[in-house]
Amino acid sequence: MENSIKSFFSTTINKYLAENTAARILAHSLEKCGVGLSPLIDHCTIRTHDVEKRSQAFLEQGFEHDQSIGVLEFDSWWAKVYRKPGWPALFIDQAFSGKRGQNSIIPEWVDEYGDECFHHIAVVVEKIENAMKVLKLKNVEFAGKIVGDPGTDLRQIFTLPEVKNGKVYSVLELIERHNGYIGFLPPQANGLMESTRLS
Ligand SMILES: [Fe+2]
Repeated sequence: MENSIKSFFSTTINKYLAENTAARILAHSLEKCGVGLSPLIDHCTIRTHDVEKRSQAFLEQGFEHDQSIGVLEFDSWWAKVYRKPGWPALFIDQAFSGKRGQNSIIPEWVDEYGDECFHHIAVVVEKIENAMKVLKLKNVEFAGKIVGDPGTDLRQIFTLPEVKNGKVYSVLELIERHNGYIGFLPPQANGLMESTRLS
């Protein structure tokens, strides 16, 4: 069982790295200093048309829905977080069905790329500003501003999305966590989602 989880993460992360320049640059730098990328992955995000259906495979592998987080509801989309100790958390999201989901950017993305790949992975850093400074030297660009004020429990930023055939694809997330906070703040996650809308 652990082997199939291992192969899921290594295959999907490798595919993601092959197609995301920012993440590849960060991964190479972490390898160079002997740290490696994997220990620093906070969560991996899957966009889907159907969270319950997509999560089934992970539940079968021993992941559990994080009941303390419950269902994270946003304007036009919702998400659940699945955890298994020792593995990155999986954040799985979808648009609301019907009118409420109309403005969501998720369905079109899933039509284009499916739900077997990662939309993003989030890498924990000590200070987002420092990580951004180093990545900017390597020409990595960021989408919008850091969400979350300095000193708060959770701060996040996305890189500019990869663009495939004129359409936005994956991003890299940098994440700062403090005070033992392991959740995802609703207004904040929505701001991040919107930062990847192709204007
Ligand atoms: Fe994220």
